[in-house]
Amino acid sequence: MNKTIEFINEKTNNFKPEIGIILGSGLGELADEYCNQSIPYTEIPNFLKSTIQGHKGRLVFVEIENKKIVMMQGRNHFYEGHSMNEITYPVKVLKGLGVKTLILTNAAGAVNESFQPADLMLITDHINNMGSNPLIGTNDEKLGERFPDMTEIYKKSLIKLAEKCANKLELAIQKGVYWANSGPSYETPAEIKMIRKLGGDAVGMSTVPEAIVANYCGINVLGISCITNAASSDTSGKLSHEEVIESANIAKAKFKSLILEIIKNL
Ligand code: HPA
Repeated sequence: MNKTIEFINEKTNNFKPEIGIILGSGLGELADEYCNQSIPYTEIPNFLKSTIQGHKGRLVFVEIENKKIVMMQGRNHFYEGHSMNEITYPVKVLKGLGVKTLILTNAAGAVNESFQPADLMLITDHINNMGSNPLIGTNDEKLGERFPDMTEIYKKSLIKLAEKCANKLELAIQKGVYWANSGPSYETPAEIKMIRKLGGDAVGMSTVPEAIVANYCGINVLGISCITNAASSDTSGKLSHEEVIESANIAKAKFKSLILEIIKNL
């Protein structure tokens, strides 16, 4: 861990970002627009594996509104075969770099029937159905407790702030519970019905491991899902990755303006 942090600090002249943003599927453009300096993951010692789809897996360092920000353009997923420990390693690195607030973003399917594709949803809580937990293993007491509290992973104050920002921009915004499956298969109709009954509003394959680790090591978390498709339950047609990316493309202007307004107000 120290080797990774020292490498990044040296490359960035001790940039010391306070805000971290992990950009989900189809939402990586923000980093292209605001890139001051970037480091490909492949250059960073002990960092993510190069299985990230598309060519961009990199850390991007930017200053917006006098705020120092590090963006992760691309993440590893549990379904790629990496361990929970591996996919959450970057969150611990962000903590070591000085990140106090982490904005986690993702593409997710709607489970709540009032949600539409291209809606944005503020994550109020999550349900971990991935079948594992990123904190399994020896605990590093320097980072956090063995049995960390998880009652407010997604900070209420950050949700309020994000809602205010959305109102100011006149963006409709949803709120709800993010349900995480391991993937990579999408859900069956029966699974979607179950998730709805058990309290999920949106479903995806990421974010939850990172949110658990961030909360564990004392980082404030805001989660934003970009709803890319109606739940596949109601035989409304088959779901493809292309459809997911297409909806993320439609939502990305909204997403970008919301993130920038949140940064302004953090
Ligand atoms: N299910 C799981 N993950 C997803 C979906 C979905 O419907 N859409 C985007 N990511």
